[in-house]
Amino acid sequence: MTAVGQVTGPVRAVLLVGSARDGRLAPDVAGWFARVAARRDDLVLDVVDVAEHLLPASLDSDDPRAAALRPRLAGAEAYVVVVPEYNRSFPGPLKTLIDSFQSEWEAKPVGFVGYGLGAAGGVRAIEHLRQIFAEFHCVGMKDIVTFPRVLDHYDADGHFPADAQGAEAAAKLMLDQLLWWARALGEAKAVRPYGAP
Ligand SMILES: Cc1cc2nc3c(=O)[nH]c(=O)nc-3n(C[C@H](O)[C@H](O)[C@H](O)COP(=O)(O)O)c2cc1C
Repeated sequence: MTAVGQVTGPVRAVLLVGSARDGRLAPDVAGWFARVAARRDDLVLDVVDVAEHLLPASLDSDDPRAAALRPRLAGAEAYVVVVPEYNRSFPGPLKTLIDSFQSEWEAKPVGFVGYGLGAAGGVRAIEHLRQIFAEFHCVGMKDIVTFPRVLDHYDADGHFPADAQGAEAAAKLMLDQLLWWARALGEAKAVRPYGAP
């Protein structure tokens, strides 16, 4: 019998696409990551795009737009956030979405894929997100995937990323960590539900 929380089959992860502006690059970055993840048989991704879930600032947890997302976020065993850097942090709509939920995030691993026009490559956005997810007792993966000077990662034909091999190696490292934590936390929760004495 499988205990509650235990991860038996592929890990169910939500890929959170973190920007919402017109003309954004996020679909290129998230699309690449989703294709890499789809080649693994130990992971199933559900893509939640912030642009399709612009939640109200009222943070009304009964709002139907938030309610529709709840089972998808709650059912995930891990998260990967694709996040650009906006003014040394991450985009506001992503914060509103994160703030609209609480227990759904709790005690799960989070991986990060960052990008930005500048040299920081989204690292400052990622480091801020680590602090936010710490509030939910999440574990942030040490290794991250970043695309500094993101426009340099398009090849002459507009394909992203130009260095697919290097990017895939970084994604593998992060995903291997994420899956280890998802299974480890699942096993722990099966023995002792999170928050129980
Ligand atoms: C409001 C705003 C602030 C930005 N601030 C930064 C920044 O601090 N550092 C950086 O490297 N890029 C910055 N950028 C560039 C974005 O990271 C870059 O345009 C990226 O493509 C944005 O993601 P998106 O295309 O998915 O919206 C900023 C862009 C916007 C729109």
